[in-house]
Amino acid sequence: MIETIDTIETLTELEESLSRPSAADIACMRRLAGDVLILGASGKMGPTLARLCRRAADAAGETRRVIAVSRRAIKAPGVEAITCDLLDRAAVAALPDCPNVLYLAGRKFGSSGSPELTWAMNAIVPGVVAERFRASRIVVFSTANVYPLRDIMGRGSRESDAPDPVGEYAQSCLGRERVFEYYSNQRGLRCLFFRLNYAVDLRYGVLVDIATKVHRGEPLDLTVPAFNVIWQRDANSYALRSLEHCASPPRILNVTGLETLTVQEAAEFFAARFKRDCVYRGTPGPVALLSDASACHQLLGSPEVSTERLMEWVARWVECGGESLNKPTHFEVPDGRF
Ligand SMILES: NC(=O)c1ccc[n+]([C@@H]2O[C@H](COP(=O)([O-])OP(=O)(O)OC[C@H]3O[C@@H](n4cnc5c(N)ncnc54)[C@H](OP(=O)(O)O)[C@@H]3O)[C@@H](O)[C@H]2O)c1
Repeated sequence: MIETIDTIETLTELEESLSRPSAADIACMRRLAGDVLILGASGKMGPTLARLCRRAADAAGETRRVIAVSRRAIKAPGVEAITCDLLDRAAVAALPDCPNVLYLAGRKFGSSGSPELTWAMNAIVPGVVAERFRASRIVVFSTANVYPLRDIMGRGSRESDAPDPVGEYAQSCLGRERVFEYYSNQRGLRCLFFRLNYAVDLRYGVLVDIATKVHRGEPLDLTVPAFNVIWQRDANSYALRSLEHCASPPRILNVTGLETLTVQEAAEFFAARFKRDCVYRGTPGPVALLSDASACHQLLGSPEVSTERLMEWVARWVECGGESLNKPTHFEVPDGRF
């Protein structure tokens, strides 16, 4: 199904749109037995994912719990929030059993100040969770940062390409996958590595960063000249439905939109919309973090929101002065801290 909404202008419309389950999400919920547990639920994606799961379960007519776990409790109708530090083994042991786990926990941007905490979050917590939920299916949110940067004239990384992460943050993300892979290969844990780049939700995301800079007349760095994006609802929908594809050994899925965009073409689109000039800095580099998500699109269908529509929504949101999470994506940093 193709999304046909012309514009999203209020927070209520945004949250409704981001958590609206597709027919495929509802059908998946009908097939999937048991509760859904979201670990790391209070960040940029977790609250809308929790609401989408709740709404899909309700529409499927199934009685089931949707449980959201993080250090800060989230508030979403019909979602049970549990506060838990996943670094605390006893607290993880006390979490309820659950056959379906969506694992979003990770150390955020700006983590360069405490590399040991980033490694603990991204490489020790996976072992704690894999042991606790060894009988569950786990969709492990990961990132395209595990791949090397690609020539922008060539193809994006595919699942069969060898990882080669640039920088310590990206290496710790590969560490997260490797620890889950160990438990999958040694103990039969069923999981799927959900290699995402980059979700856009109107309050944050690469397109929002570019649109905001153009709107303010700030210079755009061209060092990393191209990127991939996906509407956050489409990414959340893929995450829910990936539960049905968890396997041992782990399955890998690249998750992003259909196209590769350049910073300049996105900037020029927003400049035309806002009747502003683009200001650039630096020269376009030859490489960027790009992935090919055609396997995901074949398995789970194409994204419902086209890049064109998404750019229209972002332009309108920024033009209206819509709320921002003030969380820059740092997509222009080539050493991959997403
Ligand atoms: N958004 C994207 O476009 C994108 C792209 C590539 C990859 N990803 C990955 O996808 C996942 C979800 O993305 P996101 O943007 O929602 O991430 P995020 O905003 O960084 O959220 C991370 C979550 O981890 C939780 N967390 C951190 N330390 C924790 C701890 N010790 N115990 C329990 N929970 C902890 C945080 O909650 P508390 O601080 O409340 O505990 C938060 O809910 C992340 O792993 C991210 O790296 C996202």
